[in-house]
Amino acid sequence: MRKQAWLAMVGMLVAGVVGVAQSDEIANAEGFDAAMKDVGKNFGAVRSGMEARDGAAVTSGTENLVAIFERVEAFFEARELEAGITAAGEAKQAASDIVSALENQAFDQLAGARDRLGGTCRSCHTEYREEIEGGGYRFKDGVL
Ligand code: HEC
Repeated sequence: MRKQAWLAMVGMLVAGVVGVAQSDEIANAEGFDAAMKDVGKNFGAVRSGMEARDGAAVTSGTENLVAIFERVEAFFEARELEAGITAAGEAKQAASDIVSALENQAFDQLAGARDRLGGTCRSCHTEYREEIEGGGYRFKDGVL
C-alpha cells in the first residue's frame, strides 16, 4: 500500500516547487545566510513531502538541496575549512541518494537517506554555527 502510493506520485515529478533563490557563487556571509534559509525551506518541504508520500515535492526539494550544497561546498573549499567541505559533500550525497531512491523506486531507503542528510546539518552547525542574541544565526567568531 505504501509502495503503491509512492508509485502513483513518482509519475508526476515536477521541478522547482520551492525554488532556489540564486544559482551563482556564494560570495560572503550574507549570501551564505540566504543559502541556509533556502536549505531550511527545502529540507522542510522534503520532510513533509515524505510524510505525505508526495514524490514530486520530495524530488524537487532534494534537487534544490543538491544544487545549494554544491555552492555551500565551494564556499568551504574556497576557505579551506575541512569539516565544512566534508559535511557539505555528505549533505549533497545524501540528497542525491534520495533522488536516486525515488527514481529506482527503492522507497525503503528514503528515511535512512533523509536521516543522514539531517545528521549533516547537525554536525556542520555544531562546528561552525552560533545563535545571535535576539534571533538568527551566524558563523562562530574567527571562522571566516
Ligand atoms: C557545511 C556546513 C553546513 C551544513 C551541511 C548545513 N548548514 Fe545550516 N548553517 C551553517 C552555518 C555555518 C550557519 C550559520 C551561518 C548563517 O546562518 O549564515 C547555518 C545556518 C542555518 C540556518 C539559519 C539561517 C538563518 O540565519 O536564519 C538554517 C535554517 C540552516 N542552517 C538549516 C540547515 C539545514 C536544514 C541543514 C541540513 C539539511 C543545514 N543547514 C546544513 C552551515 C551548514
